[in-house]
Amino acid sequence: MSNLFAPNPLVGDVDTILEAMENRQPAVASHCRRVSAYGVQLAVQYGLPDDMVEAIRVGGLLHDVGKLMVPTDILSKPGRLTEQEWHALQGHPEYGFDMAEQLGFESAVLDIILYHHERNDSSGYPDGLDGRTIPWTVRIVSVMDAFDALTSPRAYRAALSVEAAQALLAREAADRYCPWAVSGLMSMPKPVLDAVAHGEADRYRPETAPSALVVEAATARWIPSYHEDPRIVTAW
Ligand SMILES: [Fe+2]
Repeated sequence: MSNLFAPNPLVGDVDTILEAMENRQPAVASHCRRVSAYGVQLAVQYGLPDDMVEAIRVGGLLHDVGKLMVPTDILSKPGRLTEQEWHALQGHPEYGFDMAEQLGFESAVLDIILYHHERNDSSGYPDGLDGRTIPWTVRIVSVMDAFDALTSPRAYRAALSVEAAQALLAREAADRYCPWAVSGLMSMPKPVLDAVAHGEADRYRPETAPSALVVEAATARWIPSYHEDPRIVTAW
């Protein structure tokens, strides 16, 4: 007989972990909550299956959990990082992967934690993956991670506007980010992005998600060089 009270390994101790992040690194925790909410919004908009939406929700919440292992003074340092500090910071996907794996999270969540700094042009870390091999869930979280970083203030610069951040990512999409995920971000109107950032995403969530093709048709004008067929998402 199945145990109805067994914890779902995909959601595991996510609230406890976020509480720890909230206490130690509140800015990182807030960033993770927004990245998760943006990612879920886009995944629903693209009509992705429920298990992928859930992986993006949990993976988005935990993608930077490895930063718990990085000294806070490195995370909040306003100036340029030394090589040693940069090395410590770049370890966070692997630290996070190890933590989440030990806690029993599923591979779909572990992929997001480990690979969210991999890039389309293989310039990312920790493995310099070929962009074509990066899971779609990871591509969505990576773009939303960059978008939230750009639209959040930093010690060394002000926050970019939604429009400026979208435009910057669209310019870089062909090289560093997945054009399919960026075109989804470009299709999200500013009021929706604002609502997601402020925890009101459900107000804007459609009851029936439009098909990926409908969304693509609506967004194709943003990235004319985009050639991938979004229908492949249905074949994952
Ligand atoms: Fe990160």
